[in-house]
Amino acid sequence: MSYSLLHGLCRAEMEAISRLSPRASAKVIREGAGGDLTKAIDLVAEEAAVAYLLERGFSGVLLSEEIGVKRLAPGCGQKTEPPRRSAPPNVAIPREKSLWSGTSLVLDPIDGTTNAVSGISFYSISVALADGPKLSDVFAGMVVELPSGRVFYAERGSGATLDGKEIRVPEIPSPDLPVGVDMNVKGDRSKLERMSKVLLSAKHLRCMGSAALELCYVASGGLSLYFDSRGMLRVTDIAAAAIIVREAGGSVLGLSGSDLDCKLDLRERASLVAGSRKACEEALALFRGD
Ligand code: IPD
Ligand code: CA
Repeated sequence: MSYSLLHGLCRAEMEAISRLSPRASAKVIREGAGGDLTKAIDLVAEEAAVAYLLERGFSGVLLSEEIGVKRLAPGCGQKTEPPRRSAPPNVAIPREKSLWSGTSLVLDPIDGTTNAVSGISFYSISVALADGPKLSDVFAGMVVELPSGRVFYAERGSGATLDGKEIRVPEIPSPDLPVGVDMNVKGDRSKLERMSKVLLSAKHLRCMGSAALELCYVASGGLSLYFDSRGMLRVTDIAAAAIIVREAGGSVLGLSGSDLDCKLDLRERASLVAGSRKACEEALALFRGD
């Protein structure tokens, strides 16, 4: 059931964005609820996802990077707001506990928008289902690699797969495997300096531009580690990929060394390291300068 819902949503998005020209994709529409500028590709993808959920009769809370929080219920299709040109303030996330009493769907319609509109073939759709208000309440996650269409998927307690085949994080990754890092610090030199020991220790570094997908490459053994100490990741970037890494036998830790958990709230910002527990602990020791 979870697979079919999430996969149907991803297919609806793929179909919608395939009709956009590269030039049209890049048009800036407004500021999204997640704080970044929403481009046409983000909006078209998100609208296709919402339309699909309504058509499927999904009932629950949608937390999505561009529109923020919306309660969806069968029959509420007509209430979808038309695209707005002006920048809305960050959408306040309703706090009432009852809001989270059912299922919530955490969506990044396009993770790696800059790649997508630059003709770089490395971006993704990230979508997760949760039965509570925290990252640890996610019970299913799907990341679809674009434009290839490969599907990374995990369900709580059932392992992780890539196109239906089981994937595992290697316990002791080969030192020849690249380390994924995020060095997009928007001019903040101190953030770069803080991660310098980790950067300098790697034989091969990759900064690929879609956190969700890079985390999935950790899950499938393509990257030995993913390290992001910037404190800039949103839950929409990581909700699906975190369960995929964990179900593949890997760890997703915060910089303190404990399992990363945070509220499913667009105002949260996270740092993390993902990989085998041993690889994560070694990276954190380097980061701290132990
Ligand atoms: C971005 C990507 C990118 C990371 C940014 C994210 P977006 O997501 O994951 O790799 O550097 O912090 O915001 O904006 O393309 O959805
Ligand atoms: Ca996005």
